[in-house]
Amino acid sequence: MGTEEGHVTPGEPDVFRIAVLASGSGSNLQAIIDRLHQPRFALADIDDYGEAPAAAAPAGGAGCAGLPGWTAEHPPVPRIEVVLVISDIPGARALDRAVRAGIRTATIPVSDYRDREQHDLALATKLVEVEPDLIVLAGYMRIVAPSLLKAFPWRVINLHPALLPAFPGTHSIADAVRYGVKVTGVTVHFVDPGVDSGPVIVQEAVCVRDCDTAETLAERIHEVEHRLLPEVVRLIAAGRVRPPLPGSRVVQVD
Ligand code: GRF
Repeated sequence: MGTEEGHVTPGEPDVFRIAVLASGSGSNLQAIIDRLHQPRFALADIDDYGEAPAAAAPAGGAGCAGLPGWTAEHPPVPRIEVVLVISDIPGARALDRAVRAGIRTATIPVSDYRDREQHDLALATKLVEVEPDLIVLAGYMRIVAPSLLKAFPWRVINLHPALLPAFPGTHSIADAVRYGVKVTGVTVHFVDPGVDSGPVIVQEAVCVRDCDTAETLAERIHEVEHRLLPEVVRLIAAGRVRPPLPGSRVVQVD
């Protein structure tokens, strides 16, 4: 029933804990690892002068200054750590990327379970164990169970390669090219029980060229994704993203 490797220490203060769910190549997981992930051991890696190396500096310092809208009065971002990567696909490249970064992994394939409910339960159990502050769906190709969303209210986000509500589903980039739109883009949104239907946190447009194929457009979309998703995670970690008020879909980003 699923496999896992690695270790984790829940409950450590002043750390923003992320779990990432990924089914595929994991290039967005890699962007999170490269831009945000600060493993605990790096903080202990203090030099003779009592200073941490640049890679271990708190993310609220220089690392944050490049964000659009960032100003000195915003509170610093806590240390961000990817504490678990889960895939439903054994051998997914995302798992390999996590292992190479020293991140705990779990493989929870649907075929290991009697039904969807049991699979969802296994997934939720694994997530609860690591006490994540945020669950990031980065190319996770399954619908998340409502029970999981209830367990982590406003703490599950998804990345989508189109400007929702346009082109939901799994072929959004090809759909945009086929439709002939001139602008598509990237959406990061809170997950609700529907398919790509939760409240939007941020969106960024990408122009579609007349000569684009799904492949050429995908390249430019992925470039935006690799920048935008870590930025949103950092904004959430800094407490700058407020979920919609009851009856509204508007997410406020300070
Ligand atoms: C991304 O394009 C994301 O928008 C979509 O799935 C793709 C995942 O790519 N949901 P990767 O596995 O992160 O490379």
